[in-house]
Amino acid sequence: MTWNTHDGKVAVVTGAGRGIGQAIAAGLAQRGARVMVVDKDDPTDTVEAIRGDGGTAESYIADVADEAQVAELADTVAGEHGGADILVNNAGIYPFVPIDDLDYATWRNVLAVNLDSQFLLARAFLPQLRTSGSGRIVNMTSNSIGLAVPHLTHYMASKMGVIGFTRALANDVAADGITVNAVGPTLSLTPGVRAAVPEELVRNLSNSQAIKKPGEATDVVGTVLFLTSADSYFVTGQTIMSDGGLIRL
Ligand SMILES: NC(=O)c1ccc[n+]([C@@H]2O[C@H](COP(=O)([O-])OP(=O)(O)OC[C@H]3O[C@@H](n4cnc5c(N)ncnc54)[C@H](O)[C@@H]3O)[C@@H](O)[C@H]2O)c1
Repeated sequence: MTWNTHDGKVAVVTGAGRGIGQAIAAGLAQRGARVMVVDKDDPTDTVEAIRGDGGTAESYIADVADEAQVAELADTVAGEHGGADILVNNAGIYPFVPIDDLDYATWRNVLAVNLDSQFLLARAFLPQLRTSGSGRIVNMTSNSIGLAVPHLTHYMASKMGVIGFTRALANDVAADGITVNAVGPTLSLTPGVRAAVPEELVRNLSNSQAIKKPGEATDVVGTVLFLTSADSYFVTGQTIMSDGGLIRL
């Protein structure tokens, strides 16, 4: 059964070419949103899958850490679709690098893609979200900020930054009817994780969750759908761990 809670809404989802972003894009489209599928790599697969399912989607290739590309993306969405109602800042990278091997360029790049991009996207789309009257921003963090995972100093710093950014931004935009929340997945079997983490580790971690199921890309979709719906109008500045009950805030 499909509940058309997002009918007529224009939703921008970054990093939606695969993994968690792809699942979120599909979920929003199933609820009736017109989804702007944004990725640095060609996200045609996501768009075709959504269209094949009867949904509406457009693809945009953009590097979310590039200020000029983000500004152009916002202009294009305004021009072609009348502006965004929903922004899901999902794009992120998580190279595992021990602190002694972590050069400054890698540190800066992780901060730029995971955190700076959320500022760039939010600022660029704010005028459109204000016009919407009930704008919704969801920022992707991670439950790893509460775990003893090695070799992720840069990543943890960025994902804690996401939580602080989310809390603070919620204050600045509340008067415009915009809510801002963060969602933290658990270690999940996405293409990015499959390339970087042995599946065994994902299964082992899931044993520490209250719900002992290995994480998958689709596990956070319901939380994002709630936080982007009208139902969540009184929820803002929050971080929700959609992680099987591993980390409790
Ligand atoms: N998978 C997990 O276990 C897990 C756990 C906690 C949090 N997260 C977070 O969820 C988000 C998605 O993770 P995933 O596992 O689906 O990742 P993934 O690597 O499978 O997919 C990420 C997508 O983002 C795109 N992307 C990367 N850099 C980009 C850039 N600069 N501009 C535009 N697009 C870019 C990639 O091309 C890719 O399509 C990330 O923010 C990640 O930190 C993931």
